Amino acid sequence: MVWTKECWVLMGIIIIGLWLLWYSKQNKMKKKSGVPKGNLGWPFIGETLDFIACGYTSQPVSFMDKRKSLYGNVFKTHILGTPIIVSTDPDVNKVVLQNHGNTFVPAYPKSIRELLGDFSILQMNGNLQKRVHAQIGGFLRSAQLKARITKDIENSVKLTLATWKDMHLIYVQEEIKKITFEVLVKVLMSIRPGEDLYFLKKEFEEFIKGLICLPIKLPGTRLYKSLKAKEKLLKMVKRIVEERKLAMEKSDEKGVAKDVVDVLLRDNNEANEKQYLPLDFISGIIIEMMIPGEETMPTAMTLAVKFLSDSAVALKQLTFQCLPFLGYRKFMEWHLYIYIYADFISHCEGGEHGIEEAEDRSHVKILVGLTTCPCHLLKIETLRMANIINGVWRKALKDVHIKGHLIPEGWCVLTSFISVHMDEQNYDNPCHFDPWRWEKTGAAAVNNNNFTPFGGGQRLCPGLELSRLEISIFLHHLVTSYGWVAEKDEIIHFPTVKMKKKLPITVTPVRT
Ligand code: HEM
Repeated sequence: MVWTKECWVLMGIIIIGLWLLWYSKQNKMKKKSGVPKGNLGWPFIGETLDFIACGYTSQPVSFMDKRKSLYGNVFKTHILGTPIIVSTDPDVNKVVLQNHGNTFVPAYPKSIRELLGDFSILQMNGNLQKRVHAQIGGFLRSAQLKARITKDIENSVKLTLATWKDMHLIYVQEEIKKITFEVLVKVLMSIRPGEDLYFLKKEFEEFIKGLICLPIKLPGTRLYKSLKAKEKLLKMVKRIVEERKLAMEKSDEKGVAKDVVDVLLRDNNEANEKQYLPLDFISGIIIEMMIPGEETMPTAMTLAVKFLSDSAVALKQLTFQCLPFLGYRKFMEWHLYIYIYADFISHCEGGEHGIEEAEDRSHVKILVGLTTCPCHLLKIETLRMANIINGVWRKALKDVHIKGHLIPEGWCVLTSFISVHMDEQNYDNPCHFDPWRWEKTGAAAVNNNNFTPFGGGQRLCPGLELSRLEISIFLHHLVTSYGWVAEKDEIIHFPTVKMKKKLPITVTPVRT
């Protein structure tokens, strides 16, 4: 194309127009009192380059730290195409997450919005989100699931670990996905290992690659390929949901739900009429809920192995002082107690007397004692240091004042969990992996505003307890089956948290 003089003039006018728009927005913001201080950086790109550069270092929190020292705990910036208010203050984060009066709605980057689509629990709001969240959370915490899934996790972990002894080099990050994806697909749709599982895994891997990418939907682009994979996934999941619905109607069955598909199909409307949630809606949620099986869970478990490999003391304590002598039955009792205890704590948090009441009950005190198990401490410290979900993005639907800061209507706010977890005001020597810090602070510390790996408030992760249980069972079997040596590898934090080389290790069996 030949660029005529007119084209250049037009381009110039557009650029100046956009710059004036940006400038007037900046000025309008300055006039409102209480708007956090900060710098919106360059027009259009804002401070994105510095944000990404920090994400590639071993200290991703340095982006926040620099601005915190200049402007305070809550500041404004402009990253990934959005002017945004960043909160590194646990109290402000709590108010945003609680979202009283539905003033905040989720605000994800465009590629994520496109891929999750209209039927997404992460993006929906109001009563529907509360209803679906409660249904899924209730099921994941139910006694029936706990009893069943513990055995399934154990089988999957044992089978996968058994294959390691014949492998020269094990890429932990990839291997763990086999366990977590299989377990999650069972919880979601009762699919067992076989062709269907293989197909789901293959297409899901393709789908998830597009979650953070340029939002361009042309053939050949990353987003386009991921959307195509989602179409295939939807087709298969919808078939499963439809078959289940037909079977349910035929038998008029109202027994115990065996998986999340069952739970969502039984969620009739309030008048209790037989009016199912739309099948596309159920299928969309099921696909979205596979994300932890491929991303968050494997990362958490891989980083637990990484931190253990780097901390001889923690590994020694876990290997020699806890697990083998305790025996597996006792170990499982401990962790199931903790699982149940977590339930009780969430119940008390939601109740009128709060967490203090829970702490006062004597039987809870016994359970609190159990949480000093090294494996439990290790798991909590891993979640604090790993910051797999480093914060969540919300958009304010009206002007909101929190602790003297104004979050203006239409602005996004990022509740930065990583800043809180890595702040020396909250944790001594925060960059140091120290599972025993939790022994000193006590079990209740994992339920305060300074520890939020699973988010909080209305959208607190419903898979929290299941995740903790899965990590515990995996660690138990790993340290009682193998000794290992990890190759040098590093954690990268952008676009998502991962091990650069997938954490290669060589293992030696400790018993047959
Ligand atoms: C270590 C593992 C995990 C971490 C760190 C994690 C973290 C989180 C966080 C921070 C949120 C809040 C998002 C927000 O506020 O917008 C969340 C939401 C959610 N998580 Fe997890 N998660 C994990 C595992 C799981 C598992 C295993 C499941 C499923 C069984 C699960 C299902 C969900 C769902 C459905 C939501 C959306 C809740 C809603 O918006 O109502 N997560 N998770």
